Amino acid sequence: MEKLYVEGGTRLSGNVRISGSKNSSLPILAATLLTEGECVLRNVPDLSDTNYMVQILSTLGADVERASGNVVVSAKKVASMAPYDLVRKMRASVCVLGPMLARNGEALVSLPGGCVIGDRPIDLHLRGLEALGAEVEVKGGDIKVVAPSGLRGATINMSGQYGSTVLGTDNVMMAAVFAEGVTIIEGAAAEPEVADLAKFLNSLGARIEGAGTSKIVIQGVEDLSGGEHVVIPDRIEAGTFMVAGAVIGDGITLENVCFEHLESLTSVLLESGHDIRVVDENKIHVDSSKDPKPNEITTEPYPGFPTDMQAQMCALFVNTPGISMVKETIFPMRFMHVPELKRMGANITLKDSMAIIRGVDQLSAAPVMASDLRASAALVLAALGAEGTTEINRLYHIDRGYEHLDRKLEALGARLRRGK
Ligand code: EPZ
Repeated sequence: MEKLYVEGGTRLSGNVRISGSKNSSLPILAATLLTEGECVLRNVPDLSDTNYMVQILSTLGADVERASGNVVVSAKKVASMAPYDLVRKMRASVCVLGPMLARNGEALVSLPGGCVIGDRPIDLHLRGLEALGAEVEVKGGDIKVVAPSGLRGATINMSGQYGSTVLGTDNVMMAAVFAEGVTIIEGAAAEPEVADLAKFLNSLGARIEGAGTSKIVIQGVEDLSGGEHVVIPDRIEAGTFMVAGAVIGDGITLENVCFEHLESLTSVLLESGHDIRVVDENKIHVDSSKDPKPNEITTEPYPGFPTDMQAQMCALFVNTPGISMVKETIFPMRFMHVPELKRMGANITLKDSMAIIRGVDQLSAAPVMASDLRASAALVLAALGAEGTTEINRLYHIDRGYEHLDRKLEALGARLRRGK
């Protein structure tokens, strides 16, 4: 099992190019199942989650070619059953459900398991597909969805106890593309990745309005053509590097970002005294503060503070003098990074999905365990500012969602290496 050894204390500077969005690429790759036409996707990051999705598409019968950041998909025929051994590896594969149902009138996908950030139900997805006229059966760990008489437009609310559902909105939007009549999704997720998916679908001939807001209107069409699309930059990777700059940066410039997707994080970092300068809408400059201030954040659906940046902010606050508070409302259990940060000397108390963080002068290196994608990134950030060399186990979590994170940090001056 590969480990990452991170030597703390080296200040970071220089330019880093942000990759395409993982969370935009995954549903857009799934959406290529909706058309027989050739789809050319650019700026798709090379990481294990997108590789899994490419494998799923191939197993379903699509022709897929990948050359550096470009993926070309031709789904001339599509099976209706997603392969369990692949689906179980990545929860996001549930987003093939909508396109397979729309294309074939039926779909069989293994029920995604939970993960360390909490139970990952898909009740809202299934309720949305039923509202379009599908029949859903959950049996033996599989979800079978059939629509023998086709799908019909409906008005559907996709919000649940923890706000809206991103992939649920994607699934219903993709299933509705060929539905007869008009579908209105209320309580839709407004994340930029949903808007990027809709932009791709419209480029193929779909008729979707309102994506990126809480109300999306889809006019059913007969079929879709092929097309081309450039995936938006990864706002969570960008945020992770902004926090790296706040932790130990002396002038980091992020290129290929979409500044408007980063506003909630930017305002928190500015409030805490860090120097964030917008060079232009695709370039941001970050310098750490000499006198950082504690802060309070609460995760919310977009455009609120993203849950996918919560762990990284904890890694910043552990060395920020004073008391900072981090409230998690989307995945209340999403604190697997906390016990690992405490092994490094952090002073954090967890209470009712709130992390109360008392800043200490400096953490010290320790062997720590990566547990999920963003918690792992938080451990890397903490290690960059810690004394000594931190050993981070289960590196595969990082490789799932970040394109060459260690190489990009090395290019900024960080001293780290992979090893056994
Ligand atoms: C997407 O997951 C992202 N993943 C997650 O990023 C992100 O944390 C999450 O949205 C929230 O922003 C991808 O886009 C691939 P949800 P998704 O459905 O769509 C509850 C990362 O680190 N819920 O928006 O699966 C759910 O339990 C990953 O890149 C239901 O109750 O998340 C959660 O509490 C981690 N019923 C809340 O809604 C449902 O049917 C939001 O989940 C669906 C979700």
